[in-house]
Amino acid sequence: MKKTNNVKKSKTKIWVVKDKEKDIYWPSKEMKKKANISDEKIYEEALKDPIAFWAKMAEEGLYWFKKWDKTYEENPPFFKWFIGGKINASYNCLDRHIKAGKGQKTALIWVPEPTEEKERFLTYEELYKEVNKFANVLKSLGVKKGDRVGIYLPMIPEVQIAMLACARIGAIHSVVFSAFSGESLKARLIDANAKVLITANSYYRRGKALPLKQNADIGVEGTNVEKVVVVKRADIDTSMKEGRDFWWHELMKNAKDYCEPEQVESEDLLFILYTSGTTGKPKGIVHETGGYLTQAYWTSKWTFDMQDDDIFWCTADIGWVTGHTYACYGPFLTATTLLIYEGAPDYPDWGRFWSIIEKYKVTIFYTAPTAIRMFAKMGEEWPAKYDLSSLRLLATVGEPINHEAWMWYFKNIGRERCPITDTWWQTETGATLINALPGIGPFIPTVAGRPFPGVNMKIVDEQGKEINWENEEGGYLIQKSPFAPGMLRGVWGDMERYKQQYFSEFGPNVYFTSDGAKYYDKNNIRVTGRVDDTMKVAGHRLSTGELEDAITSHKNVTECAVVPIPHEIKGQTPIAFVVLKDAQPSEDIKKEIVAKVVEKIGPTAKPEQIYFVNELPKTRSGKIMRRVLKSLLLNEDLGNIMTLQNPESVEQLKKLFSQK
Ligand code: PRX
Repeated sequence: MKKTNNVKKSKTKIWVVKDKEKDIYWPSKEMKKKANISDEKIYEEALKDPIAFWAKMAEEGLYWFKKWDKTYEENPPFFKWFIGGKINASYNCLDRHIKAGKGQKTALIWVPEPTEEKERFLTYEELYKEVNKFANVLKSLGVKKGDRVGIYLPMIPEVQIAMLACARIGAIHSVVFSAFSGESLKARLIDANAKVLITANSYYRRGKALPLKQNADIGVEGTNVEKVVVVKRADIDTSMKEGRDFWWHELMKNAKDYCEPEQVESEDLLFILYTSGTTGKPKGIVHETGGYLTQAYWTSKWTFDMQDDDIFWCTADIGWVTGHTYACYGPFLTATTLLIYEGAPDYPDWGRFWSIIEKYKVTIFYTAPTAIRMFAKMGEEWPAKYDLSSLRLLATVGEPINHEAWMWYFKNIGRERCPITDTWWQTETGATLINALPGIGPFIPTVAGRPFPGVNMKIVDEQGKEINWENEEGGYLIQKSPFAPGMLRGVWGDMERYKQQYFSEFGPNVYFTSDGAKYYDKNNIRVTGRVDDTMKVAGHRLSTGELEDAITSHKNVTECAVVPIPHEIKGQTPIAFVVLKDAQPSEDIKKEIVAKVVEKIGPTAKPEQIYFVNELPKTRSGKIMRRVLKSLLLNEDLGNIMTLQNPESVEQLKKLFSQK
């Protein structure tokens, strides 16, 4: 591997210093000087009057066609921000930067997976043109304000173009992760009642061109999608349905390159993003425009410290909220240069990420603990081959980060020069809400940090009473009103679920995150993980219900229970317990069950292990006791099992495990 050492060592700056006494870190003088914000007073000031704070932020950070009449209104659990304000997301991401003379600045660097293929650079001017043209294409396909557009695209520039084009005309995008199966795409297209789908014929993964359009065809069947736009990503055979399917490049050929941005109400929806809930059916989290953009802008400015000379790389796929906020809206709102990469981290080898950082001089790098653990396992010799001195800030997201992974990242990627900001947030919160700010710190391994200025996050006990910071047991992470502007406004088509899921545990005035947490000190919060039936597998959010539904769709499965257990790399991994009918346990049935999961959800959800059992342990009311299964798997004390309807089921399970 050739080393192109083109960043002079003497210029390497130190952005972080270790505390003299504790295992924590602080911004260096250099970082404090450079950072967009470095005065701690902001926390106190913002919380004195969060509504006034966010009004100031919205005004300073965004361009409004018309200012709002009222900043905030709530009728818990419902709330609104910037009522009467008129705005457009794509105008804020593009037009205003061009008007400010930044048209020639690189907006997007796209790195394709095949190493022989050239990268693409798009300036703000070029991105603007593409977005305008595609907005006109959408209009010509009959898409109007408020219509839902499905986007099933990999990490290629067309995905950001498509999202911003939807935003330009006031259509609501619903992006579906391209590694999700056709069936899961279908469920989401039906739920959102999408009328157009934008997809690609293929994308590259580990050197292979995968046939994405085939999945899209399954997804569209039986939905109300009338038109499908297909990006030609690879030269492979692609079946196109006459009258329904159109090539992106053909539609773009004659599209006009200006489309007037729709002046939408601040509370008009910008997007729907499906995520796993506690039941099998994924829920469509809805985000509105003005509040979401305000928070995307300021978290990009303050948490990621995006500045004019930064190259920001967020490795998250666009199919997740992290991709929406930090691989699209946030960087563009702040006129930053965003880098995206199409492929796998190990293609052609485990040095790929580091070679990208070296080549494009990435300054801010954002990834998931699960990726860090994987890299650590592959060995420090991979990053050691590359010059990573362009980096000045590292960040993580998606799950709690363990101490070892934090230290590995700090040493081998940051070379002990860069702070790590651990960003806690959710699909529902729209932007990061708990993290250390680079110019303020401290950076504490395994601790997410402090609630973002103007956001009222607390930890409460079972009764909803706020706990003292010295309480070592911890409790539940909640948010108090006034709710942050970027928070979800509902669940698409199911407001009852919105109320039940988020605002019932501690009453309608309190947003419940479903996460457990404890204080590290007076200010800083350590998030310990989900307290519901949701798991995080390699950073992907999955619910036990969703997996159980997929498994029980196999014709020989009567019943099943899925339990997450800790996993060295992935954080958590699902284990399935299956009761069969009219069939004997066999390796073939195991394979068929795994295939069902891949068909219904996608490969990310594959169970690590399947156990066939005669019965599942149940309470007298018939509820499956996943807790007992988990304790058995982890060899823990089973607790009181006398209340079970069928304690003998536990004996069979014990026998099963003793044979392992
Ligand atoms: O349990 C928390 C965990 O991820 C959940 C949200 O998942 P999702 O909606 O897929 O969004 C992930 C990306 C924003 C949370 O309820 N989580 C996320 N970030 C962290 C985290 N847990 C600990 N530390 C984090 N930094």
